[in-house]
Amino acid sequence: MVVGEVANSTPPADACIPVEDLNKHTLVTGATGTGKTFTVATIVNRLTEGDYSVFFKPLILDWHGEYSSLLRDPEVKDPFQLPITLLSREEGYYSVEFASQVLGLTPAQEYVLLKSLESLGGEEDLDISDLVEALEGMPDESAWFRESRLSLMRKLRRLTIGGYKDLFSGGDPDLEVGSNRPLVIDLSKIGDLAIRRVYVAAFLKKIFDKALRGGFNSRRLLIVVEEARNLLGRDNYVEILVKMLDEIRKFGVGLVIVSQSPSALVEDVMANTSTKIVHSIKSAVDLEVLDKVVNMTGEIREILPYMDKGEAVLFSSFYKKPLLVRIV
Ligand SMILES: Nc1ncnc2c1ncn2[C@@H]1O[C@H](COP(=O)(O)OP(=O)(O)O)[C@@H](O)[C@H]1O
Ligand SMILES: [Mg+2]
Repeated sequence: MVVGEVANSTPPADACIPVEDLNKHTLVTGATGTGKTFTVATIVNRLTEGDYSVFFKPLILDWHGEYSSLLRDPEVKDPFQLPITLLSREEGYYSVEFASQVLGLTPAQEYVLLKSLESLGGEEDLDISDLVEALEGMPDESAWFRESRLSLMRKLRRLTIGGYKDLFSGGDPDLEVGSNRPLVIDLSKIGDLAIRRVYVAAFLKKIFDKALRGGFNSRRLLIVVEEARNLLGRDNYVEILVKMLDEIRKFGVGLVIVSQSPSALVEDVMANTSTKIVHSIKSAVDLEVLDKVVNMTGEIREILPYMDKGEAVLFSSFYKKPLLVRIV
């Protein structure tokens, strides 16, 4: 797949990445305003225009709500049209562990959450409001239990106030992967950034669970995760999602991780992305992290801080060496 042109090449030459490599994940990085989003939109547009032997359905988790104007014929959805349940009784501890990671629960709060789930009967997917209600009426075993119960209620209640109640009630998002029309989820509709993060994490987990059940074996999914720092940041990562980085490729899901700072991400991202498209980076810390994982030539290292918008260094299995390219 052509992503642009090789810079300073006479005669002009296309810059390519093998489509099948998308399944082995891609990192798009570079400082703000250097062209990351434009690059990803270019890749998605090429993917849907072209006739490739590998089929990918693009799914864009559009953190800032920018993609609808950049893509050709996207299907744009409001997250409130795609509500997700955070906790399911069927999944038991797996579900509690996930909620605990996403909400940043203490071990004591996690214990109280588990207890309250046990105390609730009825349907499989749990409404957060019902859970808060159950927590309200729960007898306290001890002073620490009471303290954890109240702080847990405070954390959960945030997810149930105003319109957010509907976001976390109502089954699995039903993803139609029959066509390669890009699906854009406009996350900017979720005003509260903490809730936006919880929603994306829960959404990804649902997709991963479906992938593990074989849901994307014949029709692959290419998921764009913008502002990846929110989920895969060094100091606030969701462990289940990090684990998936390594495992999900086997189940037909490729990720495009977009982040302005490689050093802000867990190391697994660098190790588990086969293609890397690096726009201009000025930060010495970020350059150092890159230097450790990819084979940079001295020349490339020197130009990285000074590249123009839309220029990038491409690290791809298709080329022996990193290549200076212009995304077009
Ligand atoms: N390859 C390119 N060709 C033309 N314009 C570009 C290119 N890359 C980026 N731009 C323009 O530069 C601006 C910033 O790009 P954007 O992709 O939003 O940056 P980032 O996502 O890294 O913050 C946008 O107005 C975009 O249209
Ligand atoms: Mg951007």
